[in-house]
Amino acid sequence: MKKLIVIISFILLTKVCYGQNLDQKIEDLLSQMSLTEKIGQMNQYNGFWNFTGPQPISGDSKKKYDQLRKGLVGSMLNVRGTENVKEVQRIAVEESRLGIPLLFGFDVIHGYKTQSPIPLAESASWDIDAIKRSARLAAKEASAAGLNWTFAPMVDISRDSRWGRVMEGAGEDPFLASMIASARVRGFQGSDLSDPNTILACAKHFAGYGYVEAGRDYNTTEISINTLHNVVLPPFKAAANSGVGTFMNSFNDLNGIPSTADKFLQRDILKELWKFKGFVVSDWGSIREMIDHGFASNRSEAGRLAILGGSDMDMESSIYIEKLEELVNSGKISIDYVDDSVRRILRAKFLLGLFDDPYRYIDSDREEKIIGSKEILEGALDIAKKSIVLLKNENNLLPLKKKGQKIALIGPLAADKNSPLGNWSIAADKDSAISVLEALSLGVMRRHKGNDLIYKQGVRLINKVPDGFHEEVSINENDRTGIEEAVIAAKEAEIVIMVLGEYGYQSGEGRSRANLDFPGLQQELLERVREVNKNIILVVMSGRPLILNWADENIPAIVQAWHLGTQSGYAISEVLYGDYNPSGKLTMSFPRSVGQMPLYYARKSTGRPGADGEDQGSVFWSHYQDEKNTPLYPFGYGLSYTKFRYSKITLTDSKMSPDESINAEITITNTGKVKGKEVVQMYIHDRYASATRPIRELKGFQIVELEPRESKTVAFKIDRSLLEFYSGNNRWEAESGDFDIYIGTNSDTKIKAGFVLND
Ligand code: BGC
Repeated sequence: MKKLIVIISFILLTKVCYGQNLDQKIEDLLSQMSLTEKIGQMNQYNGFWNFTGPQPISGDSKKKYDQLRKGLVGSMLNVRGTENVKEVQRIAVEESRLGIPLLFGFDVIHGYKTQSPIPLAESASWDIDAIKRSARLAAKEASAAGLNWTFAPMVDISRDSRWGRVMEGAGEDPFLASMIASARVRGFQGSDLSDPNTILACAKHFAGYGYVEAGRDYNTTEISINTLHNVVLPPFKAAANSGVGTFMNSFNDLNGIPSTADKFLQRDILKELWKFKGFVVSDWGSIREMIDHGFASNRSEAGRLAILGGSDMDMESSIYIEKLEELVNSGKISIDYVDDSVRRILRAKFLLGLFDDPYRYIDSDREEKIIGSKEILEGALDIAKKSIVLLKNENNLLPLKKKGQKIALIGPLAADKNSPLGNWSIAADKDSAISVLEALSLGVMRRHKGNDLIYKQGVRLINKVPDGFHEEVSINENDRTGIEEAVIAAKEAEIVIMVLGEYGYQSGEGRSRANLDFPGLQQELLERVREVNKNIILVVMSGRPLILNWADENIPAIVQAWHLGTQSGYAISEVLYGDYNPSGKLTMSFPRSVGQMPLYYARKSTGRPGADGEDQGSVFWSHYQDEKNTPLYPFGYGLSYTKFRYSKITLTDSKMSPDESINAEITITNTGKVKGKEVVQMYIHDRYASATRPIRELKGFQIVELEPRESKTVAFKIDRSLLEFYSGNNRWEAESGDFDIYIGTNSDTKIKAGFVLND
């Protein structure tokens, strides 16, 4: 009853009339707001507990509470849990003059409390429906905690695995990443934002953040117009086309302009060309950071440049709230800019249904019921299995036999229940992931009773000083005491499973690395174990591609298991035992050496190409003296417990006019003994164009599931839209001429055909 009275009085207070359309409602509310209140909507503060950037400067809690009461805050981040959200929302709604409800944002990057695999891992499933479902479940769990906005998906393309944030993205390819961006947006937002199980999504970081020089986080960025349009922007455009409610800009400067103040990006492209109706939030403190960039000389100037550039909401710089009013009153900024931003922010609040019921996301019964529920846990397990990539499997060492094997499980990450949660798992309980040890032991107890399992850590994890909101852990670099024990256990075992890689927080924001090998003493442990037992199955947990050259040469079976989230151990165990046949494919090229960075399959030919890895008989071609050009494992690569045979490509025609389409068909046969799934990939090469084109680009893929000896024919439709690119004429167009088409099991496929696009 009390709630009802609050809602009714709230409606009366804001005079929002229900017959009105959305635009009228926004205008009506806007007309009641003072300039100070308008600017308040553009202000976002961190909450009172966790923080996800440098120490908040928004000041003490008392100041924040006072400003909430005065209607000077439009959104809070990192306030979560129905009780906390309710209290803060209550102040905004019941104590401020206009009672405008708050947006509650949080980094729901791969789940809320239940973690699904890190986004890079999920992308390796290539399963668009499964990725969408994962986002939908994350939204359901996060909204049950009172949240209504996630700062996801991150859609930055990155081709440099030194950058720790590759774990948050969908890999190196714009075509696949665009499909994943749409799937994630649709998963989070559903078809009706006012449904309490959905939350507002945020495409970030606009733009170019994945191109930080030398892979060093927050570094400067130079991107040509050609690369910007053909590679960097497509996933953002896909998110916008899918109706994403918000964008976040980025910390980097792009070609000399900090993204936060980049009018070309935020106004000309996003708001004008793409007709984006949502709002842009700055990244944490990025308005203030323009002073350090050397772009704004003081806070007022930073605020002026940010709003002119198209940043609608200020996350944790407190600059808008402090300086905008004066900028408007002195005529330095037109009120129109403020009004435009406020309209966009209010629109999001209306769409979420917050004006109908500001407490609609806040229901403690739902919180209790949904968080960690069976449905969410099962969803996390499903996508975790699909995300695993089998990199090597000599002599069918995998799957494991279900009985009669003596197994030694070794490695610092084998029993760790925190690492698999991965970075951005702030709301997860510490040590809440199922470890490989737990899952395998359970298997041995219940289903594989004839197997014998012994565990040795080998190399210890070291807890370092916490940095504010989570524990910092590293992998031991000098204590060899555990190695001997592990070697003895390995000697007595038939099979050794080694779980090595990066601790969960060794990738992610601020976690760039100049070396991409196993941290600490893990390589030494691996080599020592290999001296006594060659039957090693290496399970790699990491947030990015690592350099696995030695392992590839010396270890018979390698499984890329990323940071797979809460259900990690179960997923890995199902794959190791063959209860699930792996079908994941890499979405980033795995390097042979850090010196190859940036590394990606869709490279340009250059004027001196030469066949990869072969001696050209002279030095004058594009290559390294001391390393191959090729990756260790290419984009799109991943094995199965069965084998697939591909036929030749059949084209329905070898030429097409711009208004026609042709089909490329290929037959795939399962030639192995077990059922399996294959991601059939199609790449196209535009041979000659007004601007140089990549040697091939992904333009289609389909997942087929085949029983042993079964065949299926897959057809890809090719029309002009697939051939369009941002050309040398500075526009999107398909240019007539010769095209090569490749279909196969990864980006290195040699199965080829050709066609011509006529004028
Ligand atoms: C990150 C964003 C994140 C924000 C809020 C920043 O440091 O770059 O991706 O959404 O913090 O936590």
